Amino acid sequence: MGIIAPSILSADFTRLGEELNQIEQAGADWIHIDVMDGRFVPNITYGPIIVEACKRASNLVLDVHLMIEKPDLIIPEFARAGADYISVHAEACPHLHRSLQLIKSFNAKAGVALNPATPLSTIEWIVDQLDFILIMSVNPGFGGQKFIDTSIQKISALSDLLKEKKSTAIIQVDGGINKDSINAVSSAGATSFVAGSAIFNTKDYAKAILNLRQNM
Ligand code: DX5
Ligand code: ZN
Repeated sequence: MGIIAPSILSADFTRLGEELNQIEQAGADWIHIDVMDGRFVPNITYGPIIVEACKRASNLVLDVHLMIEKPDLIIPEFARAGADYISVHAEACPHLHRSLQLIKSFNAKAGVALNPATPLSTIEWIVDQLDFILIMSVNPGFGGQKFIDTSIQKISALSDLLKEKKSTAIIQVDGGINKDSINAVSSAGATSFVAGSAIFNTKDYAKAILNLRQNM
């Protein structure tokens, strides 16, 4: 069974606690928290203070996606705030192995996120360090964008690479996931699905999550 990770980027922040409650009741597995710094990506969102608030408001696993430059400077704060999974972008980390070690030193699960244009070869020699890989299926920065089709082939190739390296790392896909795109990425080998607008832009979160599960 796949992991559904609603992205709170599309939630109503005037009622974040209620939104988190509803998403938990609706059958979500993880909460995906998109951190943006206005430099690595054009948008700015939230920091450790929101992760800490999510921790108090929810029992779900907190999955923190760092779309920021120099993540090593602030990874400790996110870990202390309660992040269970932390991903950094390969494009933002000259010392990716070190960044992963830093995440793991706080007993959090470590992941690398790859932009649509970034080749899988960037992670080839650090696969043994990875608990998960996040394949971006849109350009990071905003919710509600159109799914990029070539992500499907990339996920298949990643799935082969992980088998070859005997890795059990989770393949996560993020961007444009909805009832129409989820089947192809699931068949290609993804098992963790981030969805923002496909869940939060509906009236019935339970129905939206069920709809994703039924189309996997
Ligand atoms: C984009 C973020 C995504 C975003 C997905 O930069 O990483 O997590 O919230 O939103 P949807 O599901 O609407 O594409
Ligand atoms: Zn994300």
